[in-house]
Amino acid sequence: MTALAMPGVLPGAAPGDGPGALSRGAALRRLAEALRAAGIANAAGEARFLVLDLLGLRPIDLLGAAAEPVGAEGAARLAEALARRLSGEPLARILGAWEFWSLPFRLSPETLVPRADTETLVEAALRLLPDAGAPARILDLGTGSGCILVALLHERRAASGIGVDRSAGALRTARANAEANGVGERAAFLAGDWGAALAGPAFDLVVSNPPYIRSAAIPGLDREVRLHDPAAALDGGADGLGAYRRILDEAARLLAPGAPLLVEIGYDQADDLARLAGAAGYAVRAPVRDLAGHDRVMILVQDPARMDRAAAPGSPRKNAC
Ligand SMILES: C[S@@+](CC[C@H](N)C(=O)[O-])C[C@H]1O[C@@H](n2cnc3c(N)ncnc32)[C@H](O)[C@@H]1O
Repeated sequence: MTALAMPGVLPGAAPGDGPGALSRGAALRRLAEALRAAGIANAAGEARFLVLDLLGLRPIDLLGAAAEPVGAEGAARLAEALARRLSGEPLARILGAWEFWSLPFRLSPETLVPRADTETLVEAALRLLPDAGAPARILDLGTGSGCILVALLHERRAASGIGVDRSAGALRTARANAEANGVGERAAFLAGDWGAALAGPAFDLVVSNPPYIRSAAIPGLDREVRLHDPAAALDGGADGLGAYRRILDEAARLLAPGAPLLVEIGYDQADDLARLAGAAGYAVRAPVRDLAGHDRVMILVQDPARMDRAAAPGSPRKNAC
């Protein structure tokens, strides 16, 4: 039996080593080696996250007191986490938390792990709300962990917002995240099918990162995503555009005149979104790119003249895709 397969024992343990005798520094090295051997890209960084989080340490505790023993319980926690990571579970799921916009977010099985790409949407939204003191009203459709709404309310201290999700579990997590990040008093979370349950008043900004992956592409996703992110956060229907059709339709009713709708998109969906949004009566700005240079966010603004045309009988909107 290898050390890896032994419950509560980290790889590299010498015969006769009690698990509790392992030092923090040695535990860090052994975790990093095991992760590297399994081909995990950021092995050293992940090992550090695991040791700090699971042993409840601060970075200084690894620098100044690396020789301290992790204890039998600590060694068992690390060994269990390593086994989960080697079986393909993402680090974020093991930690049960992830950072977004430099803020901490708890996760639950019903929430997507917030992605760095989604910070592009937050940046674009903040540029459209330049006055930090304005009491803007924000709607986040498909709020998940609440990461987008919480980040926006964190940066715009006079703003308030509503996060909507179909998942009750996600909404509980989003509310806890809003409170933990000090914006709970300005955030409300509602169960709903996109904007269907909302009647207004009008919002100054609607944001959404909806599920946008084609159903047929889901089996080909990385197993870390396919097996550990909720299907409701991924599956955008046959052409990946199902949620956008609903959101375009409902946001038109919920936005204040001239207010923008920002949606995150897949890297190859800008043309499709521009076509759908144009047919639904929105003026479409050039897509905003993420740090990798991929089209990531569409900024859509209702154009009253075009809305009238789109709503007219026989107009393209009637046959909208
Ligand atoms: C891609 S995730 C985005 C989560 C979060 N906003 C983020 O950026 O990390 C999409 C979210 O939409 C929610 N969702 C899916 N269908 C929905 C619907 N019909 N109405 C409301 N929310 C829905 C999912 O539960 C999920 O939380």
